Amino acid sequence: MQILKEKEALRKLVRALKNDRHSIGFVPTMGALHEGHLSLIEQALSTCDKVVVSIFVNPTQFNNPEDLQKYPRTLEKDVELIKQLSDDVIVFSPTASEMYGDSISSEEFSFDGLEYQMEGKYRSGHFNGVGTIVKRLFEMVEPDKAFFGEKDYQQLQIIKKLVEKQGLNVEVIGCPIYREKNGLARSSRNERLSAGERQKAAFIYEILQKVKEDFGTKSAKEITTWVSNQFESQPDLLLEYFEIANADNLLSVQEEDMTKKYRAFIAAYSGDIRLIDNIALN
Ligand code: PAJ
Repeated sequence: MQILKEKEALRKLVRALKNDRHSIGFVPTMGALHEGHLSLIEQALSTCDKVVVSIFVNPTQFNNPEDLQKYPRTLEKDVELIKQLSDDVIVFSPTASEMYGDSISSEEFSFDGLEYQMEGKYRSGHFNGVGTIVKRLFEMVEPDKAFFGEKDYQQLQIIKKLVEKQGLNVEVIGCPIYREKNGLARSSRNERLSAGERQKAAFIYEILQKVKEDFGTKSAKEITTWVSNQFESQPDLLLEYFEIANADNLLSVQEEDMTKKYRAFIAAYSGDIRLIDNIALN
């Protein structure tokens, strides 16, 4: 297991591996690793010769300074978890100044409108921060394949767009959502829920499954009204948005066209903890 903190050391190592014709898989994370992240690393290990995992809590993608400050930093435990999968992973864990120098700020990107939908409406500047760090990491790691979770489906689409627009030579691979036993999408934020809240939060996935059942027989409008009524009767969860959107361009569905792919998306609060989830509908 190699743990690197400096980009030059990482570049050197990656170049040597590429010269030896090793394929490189890359899993970018912000640490506080859980089974969701580990499932991505497993997928990378099974399809690439060498795997790089980055662990960096990226300041420019947080729109709330308190959220950034509270974000768990558990490097030692993370390294232990990765070791349980393989001893041959390269961990890149830089400081903010290593990634940003003196100026911690984002580049401005156009993601052809993807950035204005759903999360973009509630987390201003978030996707510029994600784009900035992922582009820099891609330039350092030069991966053949990069693995992202469908848990953050909008982020996955945005990274695909980033690669297309910047002409980067990386294959972006979407990986399925890892769920807890009760169906709740695994997230580091779940740790901050009480046992009771965690159980109640499974409601989000129950709703998504019901939406999937009804999609195609009920209209998107009817389904949307039904979902907000369901949340009204669930006082422990506050719905921020529910959308049925085109899975490619993320535009909210107007009239269903079954030759296209759709997904349903939810963001909801349990107390002050924001949870997101989504499901493929067809
Ligand atoms: P982070 O939230 O740490 O997530 C890292 C990767 O793990 C993302 O691709 C995310 O979608 C995936 N992931 C998280 N929970 C998952 C689950 N339950 N099932 C499947 N995959 C899951 O996303 C980020 O970090 C950052 O924005 C990053 C891309 C690293 C840029 O800073």
